[in-house]
Amino acid sequence: MVRTVSTPIREIVAFETQAGTPQEAMIACPFEDLLFGGARGGGKTYGMLGDWLSHQDLYGANAKGVFFRKTYDELEQVQEFAQKIFPLVGAVYRTQKRTWFFPNGAMLKMRILERDEDATKYQGHEYTWICFEELTNWPSPKPVDKLRACLRSGAGVPCFFRATANPGGVGHNWVKARYVDPSPPMRPFFDPEQNVTRIYIPATLDDNPLLTKNDPNYWKRVEASVGGDKELLRAWRYGDWDIVAGGMLDDLFRREIHIIVPFQIPYSWYVDRTFDWGSSAPFSVNWWAESDGTIAPNGITYPRGTMFAIQEWYGWNGKPNEGCKLLAHEIADGIVEREHQGILLNLTINDGAADTQIWDSDPIISISIADEMLERGVGWIKADKKPGSRKQGWQRLRRFLKAAHKFPMEEPGLFIFNNCTHWIRTVPVLPRSDKDRDDVDFKSEDHSGDSTRYRLSYAIPPAGSYETGVPG
Ligand SMILES: Nc1ncnc2c1ncn2[C@@H]1O[C@H](COP(=O)(O)OP(=O)(O)OP(=O)(O)O)[C@@H](O)[C@H]1O
Ligand SMILES: [Mg+2]
Repeated sequence: MVRTVSTPIREIVAFETQAGTPQEAMIACPFEDLLFGGARGGGKTYGMLGDWLSHQDLYGANAKGVFFRKTYDELEQVQEFAQKIFPLVGAVYRTQKRTWFFPNGAMLKMRILERDEDATKYQGHEYTWICFEELTNWPSPKPVDKLRACLRSGAGVPCFFRATANPGGVGHNWVKARYVDPSPPMRPFFDPEQNVTRIYIPATLDDNPLLTKNDPNYWKRVEASVGGDKELLRAWRYGDWDIVAGGMLDDLFRREIHIIVPFQIPYSWYVDRTFDWGSSAPFSVNWWAESDGTIAPNGITYPRGTMFAIQEWYGWNGKPNEGCKLLAHEIADGIVEREHQGILLNLTINDGAADTQIWDSDPIISISIADEMLERGVGWIKADKKPGSRKQGWQRLRRFLKAAHKFPMEEPGLFIFNNCTHWIRTVPVLPRSDKDRDDVDFKSEDHSGDSTRYRLSYAIPPAGSYETGVPG
């Protein structure tokens, strides 16, 4: 299909879709929310630029678009393509405004959205076309949904949300659940929760004959980029979303199952606390109750060994992954204070596991964080830090979460009281590491996750779990 784009001065062919390809179907698609791609080299990026050209051509000065990538370098690649196509219709890029201006008055902002909280900057903006390239690069849909709220037009122009993605990024699971699982490809479906019609249009390398012709080495470069991960390579070649990828837990964590209303802990249950130390990074103190199989005040009898995160203290400065730099004795005093009020009042609270680095002595005053806290009445046992313990810990956490899916439960599971807001904010979205997909990305906000791992290493394991590691 040849799409002609009219400008006040001339009529130019700026963009030609490859006839009969998914790219053509995508640009003609009338539905508001569309995911395009699912494989490498299917013509996703080009397709999106073509879709915008079509949109601005139809709606002129009323067409307001914004194109997002996660990082600056990635956006640069898109810009390279845009520089080839957009000037052909007379569009000009103003670097300071990071925006393409079209002769008919349409404009397209080119933006990065690196941190979730950057999305709030767009509150009150109005766009008729929003594109997120490589949607699985975003660990959660939160910033995406904040932006979707900006999709509106005072001029009555139809508004579109467009995204591209390949399987396997940190956002693999939520993107798959949103676009791929509900309906077969090319079949639109209505999402009543977000009141929108969605469609997934797949495209693979086979749908882009121009690429194989013009760049015969493309696939070799893709192969080199996966570091031997054959499963990921297959997914990228054929658009297979059924791979184990994405977040460490988001395929198992279910808000409606795992987050529960707090109840008074029965006195016969074992209660303790765990600690992941941090100063410039956050620390996390988590209090746990372990069911002994007696009935809980909410009327449910949980299997013996079921774990409940009942309270937390997250030492941050209000910004994700930034600590509040409290000193050891201040943290200890804060813990004691918290154990004398609220849900913890009158419970026997045992010393649980903490990150072993708190036993390292300060070379100048030769006292460790653990010593200092013990002086204030807060003791710890050493967390299991043996080689492989991280991966085993995540695996255990997955099993505990999964066990809670069954009702009635057969094995001990894990539940989170709804007051543990930082656990709820950070743990379900823990991303897998690019280097080792069985481990969590070290750079992520993993402090509540680590503290949870420490506790589960000496909990009663669900069947098939690893051996119980006894903290020494
Ligand atoms: N409509 C088109 N007209 C001309 N060339 C095209 C068109 N669509 C795709 N191509 C060619 O195919 C190449 C790959 O397309 P594109 O970069 O859009 O694919 P992609 O799915 O985004 O790839 P990746 O997964 O690597 O990001 C482009 O560099 C371009 O050479
Ligand atoms: Mg691309």
